[in-house]
Amino acid sequence: MNLSGNTVFITGATAGIGRGLAEAFYKLGNKVIIGGRRRALLDEVTGLNPGMEAIELDMTNMASIESAAAWLKAHHPTLNVLINNAGIMPFDDPSSELDDDVVQSVVATNLLGPMRMTSLLIEHLKAQAASTIIHNTSVVAFLPLATNAVYSATKAAMHSFTQSQRFALRNTSVRVIEVAPPWVNTDLIFKSDDPRAMPLDAFIDDTIAQLATNTDDIYVERVREILTHPRYTEYERVEARNLAMVDDPIPRH
Ligand SMILES: NC(=O)c1ccc[n+]([C@@H]2O[C@H](COP(=O)([O-])OP(=O)(O)OC[C@H]3O[C@@H](n4cnc5c(N)ncnc54)[C@H](OP(=O)(O)O)[C@@H]3O)[C@@H](O)[C@H]2O)c1
Repeated sequence: MNLSGNTVFITGATAGIGRGLAEAFYKLGNKVIIGGRRRALLDEVTGLNPGMEAIELDMTNMASIESAAAWLKAHHPTLNVLINNAGIMPFDDPSSELDDDVVQSVVATNLLGPMRMTSLLIEHLKAQAASTIIHNTSVVAFLPLATNAVYSATKAAMHSFTQSQRFALRNTSVRVIEVAPPWVNTDLIFKSDDPRAMPLDAFIDDTIAQLATNTDDIYVERVREILTHPRYTEYERVEARNLAMVDDPIPRH
């Protein structure tokens, strides 16, 4: 995609990958609008990046998504890039009873939210000369983590939705890109500085570099290694990765 001169809206940009992408697009000469629930952080990010704008947004709430989409269309008619990034990753245990509040919030944030936001903006994006939708999924869309089963399922569902949407939009001005990050050192679980987590800056740099190409599936090197490991079947890869996590789990706090 063209990395400058766009009007970009990023959900969940008060922290982590969303904030990193927002600041990277801002530096590249794009109009950037960020969304998220925490007003103080929205103000902090826009304060540090003059000209960047923010809107309060709760991706679990349809009225909030509708109001953000309406505001974007009214105030930013040139909007041509939507980055569905907001997400949460609570732990769960699919071998026992699931906490229904947790299930509902994960599905609402990670799956219903991006589908709803995209749906409300799709006609607007189709009317632009060149638009891009970026869905931030995860390596766990392909290789589920048993300690985060509901999260993994929402990401697999978004991977599927991305492929359908890409095909359905193939003859339009809208390109659909999937970014599937590896474990990145953010607040998503706990900013642990664990050596298995990719540093945020390196992840943003690599992702931006790949967005400049015509690749529709953005996988950094460590994701490519996981997904293309020649020795194992999918089942064996899932088993091996989860056994490794049992021996050396993701720190929870
Ligand atoms: N870090 C990783 O290892 C990793 C790996 C693969 C994929 N990802 C994906 O990358 C995306 C960003 O995660 P991150 O690692 O940057 O985590 P993060 O640092 O915790 O940031 C998550 C962002 O999502 C926003 N958010 C959460 N719930 C929201 C809601 N209901 N409405 C609106 N915004 C909401 C948060 O903003 P507010 O709290 O201010 O609303 C925050 O800005 C997620 O989709 C995640 O699944 C991350």
